Amino acid sequence: VVVGEAHLFRYPTKDDPAILLRLPDDELRAYSQKCTHLGCVVYYSPDNDDELVCPCHEGFFDATTGVPTAGPPERPLPRIDVEVRDGTVWALNVEERA
Ligand code: FES
Repeated sequence: VVVGEAHLFRYPTKDDPAILLRLPDDELRAYSQKCTHLGCVVYYSPDNDDELVCPCHEGFFDATTGVPTAGPPERPLPRIDVEVRDGTVWALNVEERA
């Protein structure tokens, strides 16, 4: 993943869409792709102040924290811990957040 881009994957099961981001400051972040409002799939919008956008009801999440910034979602996106080992990014676990 290059800076400012996203990679889609499935975690923890093949039915769980997830998104890995490389933020402009080179930090990696990964989240469940399911919006915490009604479960639509969020996507990364580097042109839009580094936010994750849910197209269903115009929900927005901060790409650095996963916290909702606008629209109906009230809970942050579940964050997936990732680690780089030998040039490969590994998903370690999902952290559900209240
Ligand atoms: Fe994402 Fe409604 S499902 S804003």
